[in-house]
Amino acid sequence: KKRIGILTSGGDCPGLNAVIRGVVKSCHQSGYDCVGFLKGYEGLYDPVQYMHLTPASTKGILTQGGTILGSTNKGRFAAVKGVDDRVEIDPKLVRGVQETVEQLGISGLICVGGDGSLAIAQQFHEAGIPVVGVPKTIDNDLSATAFTFGFDSAIECATDALDRLHTTAASHERIMVLEVMGRHAGWIALHSGIAGGGDVILIPEIKWNFDHVCHKILHRESQGKKFTLVVVAEGAELPGGGHVGQEQDGQQVKLGGVGKTVTEEIERRLHRETRLCILGHLQRGGTPTTFDRVLATMFGAHAVRLVVEGRFGEMIASRPPEMVSVPILEAVHKIRQVDPNGPAVQAARALGISFGDCPA
Ligand code: F6P
Repeated sequence: KKRIGILTSGGDCPGLNAVIRGVVKSCHQSGYDCVGFLKGYEGLYDPVQYMHLTPASTKGILTQGGTILGSTNKGRFAAVKGVDDRVEIDPKLVRGVQETVEQLGISGLICVGGDGSLAIAQQFHEAGIPVVGVPKTIDNDLSATAFTFGFDSAIECATDALDRLHTTAASHERIMVLEVMGRHAGWIALHSGIAGGGDVILIPEIKWNFDHVCHKILHRESQGKKFTLVVVAEGAELPGGGHVGQEQDGQQVKLGGVGKTVTEEIERRLHRETRLCILGHLQRGGTPTTFDRVLATMFGAHAVRLVVEGRFGEMIASRPPEMVSVPILEAVHKIRQVDPNGPAVQAARALGISFGDCPA
């Protein structure tokens, strides 16, 4: 019997188990056996770690957050930037993976991951390993696909947080700062900010400064609104440069950096009680939303189809109403950021939401 392998790599998010289930069930329907490698790429080599996946063994996982296969972010296979921004993995590891794939009779390896993980999959492809990619990031910033699963669940969580912060901010007449995820793009901040009634949204794509943020708060006060909700993306650049929440020299700087600075600076300038809430990894846990379950299931089923059709080196992408595939190479290293003149930002501005880039 032919066999398909699957692994989940990089930061987890709601919907990974739904992809696994989609792959397993589709394999079953198409007469393929399915194995899942553990801990991302780590399980592919030294020691090889995998489990057999069947419809029976994956029963009930659709609604579970996380991944039953486990995942690794920046392990041995971590992408080291080489010439022209290409990643280079130790050739010994690539040869080891090749052997594993041959020994286990894997006719297609489905790699579920974000930008960095897909770059590794691309390198496997170039070495002749039959891989198919499935895009994943809660940040929703991969350019080849209109949506990634996990994003909808993340904004649901951030919106719920804003709903809760709203009432406590109003009761205490305080400024509440909510820091959400989004390393290179402000999608989570923008969408949850709109849905949760944020007053100020600070994102990496729009340059902002504290004068404008404070002006907005004072303007609200002059209208009798004594509290303000500020939503800030972890990757929002601080005025004067610097991405406190981002990677520096390859080291991941802790979440909360930019939120802390924003909170302290508002309090220092306005002498108003200001509190910070860092949502952090709560955004990556919990049951996936309906949208994410459907998208992840579609990704899983279509990834199996790509293997069956022998379309290796390609990645599934959602281009509503179509589900298409693109070369993995086209999908990596191309971040899709918020359009500062796009419809969502325009609508937010029309409602009076400030992006900290002009007086209220
Ligand atoms: O890229 C997804 C993401 O959740 C980012 O929003 C966040 O900066 C990062 O991963 C956190 O990664 P880790 O869980 O490895 O600290």
